[in-house]
Amino acid sequence: MSQTIIDFQNFFKPNKKKEFFDIYETIKESILIIEGSLKKSGIEIFINKTENLAIKGYKNEFSQVIINIINNAKDALNKNRSLNKKIYIDIKKEANFIIVDIIDNGGGIKSDILDKIFEPYFTTKHSSKGEGLGLYMSKMIIEESMNGLLEAKNIEDGAKFTIKLPIKVNNE
Ligand SMILES: Nc1ncnc2c1ncn2[C@@H]1O[C@H](COP(=O)(O)OP(=O)(O)O)[C@@H](O)[C@H]1O
Ligand SMILES: [Mg+2]
Repeated sequence: MSQTIIDFQNFFKPNKKKEFFDIYETIKESILIIEGSLKKSGIEIFINKTENLAIKGYKNEFSQVIINIINNAKDALNKNRSLNKKIYIDIKKEANFIIVDIIDNGGGIKSDILDKIFEPYFTTKHSSKGEGLGLYMSKMIIEESMNGLLEAKNIEDGAKFTIKLPIKVNNE
């Protein structure tokens, strides 16, 4: 909880500056931060890119979003006791958008809560594990702060989170 509050405080700092950053490199850096806990859970993580893609925006906040989504995937994979715990990250360009897909094979999100997961304080976890703010905060960062889209859907054996960011942002 305390960590979430600190992240929020950073998020609402008014003097933030946009910076130019490489999406792939930033995602790799984010993974390094949580690599230990992923290893401990026996999770393999794969990252794939079609080309080098950079964007002007809030690098630290973007990194926070990536860590949030990966940690959620980790929780799902651990809860589901999957045998081959995997997370795939796919970075590509579509028209004037950077698309980042984060896919896990942790069993997916129950269909009756799929429309609630981005609400503040919505969680299916014990209060020691989750406060239900991660996806709410992530959606705010991507959609309000970076003019993008953050969506979730279920795939075959897990969940897929898609971040869509415009490469050229007006009024910056
Ligand atoms: N990859 C995932 N697989 C299954 N369920 C997920 C996944 N990511 C998020 N969820 C669901 O969305 C809820 C909200 O996530 P989040 O906002 O990060 O809060 P928290 O992680 O604190 O519960 C989780 O409690 C979980 O039920
Ligand atoms: Mg979370």
